[in-house]
Amino acid sequence: MPTPNEAALSLLETRRTIAALQLAEPGPSDAEIRRMIAAASRVPDHGKLTPWRFVLYRGAARAVLDEKLTPIFRARFPGAPEGKVLVEAQRFSAPPLTIGVLSTAAEHVKIPVWEQELSAGAATMNLMLAAHALGYAAQWLSGWCCYDDEAAALLGRKPGERFAGLVAIGAPTVPPVDRPRPAFEDVVTEWSA
Ligand SMILES: Cc1cc2nc3c(=O)[nH]c(=O)nc-3n(C[C@H](O)[C@H](O)[C@H](O)COP(=O)(O)O)c2cc1C
Repeated sequence: MPTPNEAALSLLETRRTIAALQLAEPGPSDAEIRRMIAAASRVPDHGKLTPWRFVLYRGAARAVLDEKLTPIFRARFPGAPEGKVLVEAQRFSAPPLTIGVLSTAAEHVKIPVWEQELSAGAATMNLMLAAHALGYAAQWLSGWCCYDDEAAALLGRKPGERFAGLVAIGAPTVPPVDRPRPAFEDVVTEWSA
């Protein structure tokens, strides 16, 4: 019988999203960011293609990015209420750190694109868990800017890439409140002949 790693299990069982707007300083240090990226890079990767990469949005660059994104948002959603624009204008400025995870999946002789994309999802989840393990909270986001060509290019997306997510990371300013999780019976079937 293997010895359970209760600390690791507890980490999985207690992780809860905290909304990006409820994340505050301090954010992760350079050394912590390196550690999170190393953990995120240790994911199953059929063919060892490394079909993902990371972009850091932090420091003073965040406000500059928000300033450049907001007019694009206004142009795309001219009827958006001012409150929504205000929230959008803080997308990157509010959390201390956002890490973009880009899937670089491409057609390959052996490895399906789908499997490469799953690896990017796994990298994103490892990033979330590493943030949690270091004592930070996080939110896995997407949103219009991941899918809008002009905005995504501004965020650093290259042709052919897709955002797996934007992971906002920081110190939680509110306690985590859990949400209902699927019951075992609802998500599991037992195969029988
Ligand atoms: C690929 C992906 C994109 C997401 N994008 C958003 C988003 O743009 N906005 C949002 O509020 N939640 C988004 N979510 C959901 C949250 O990350 C999170 O799963 C949700 O708040 C539930 O919290 P939990 O992690 O505690 O279960 C996304 C989740 C995934 C997997």
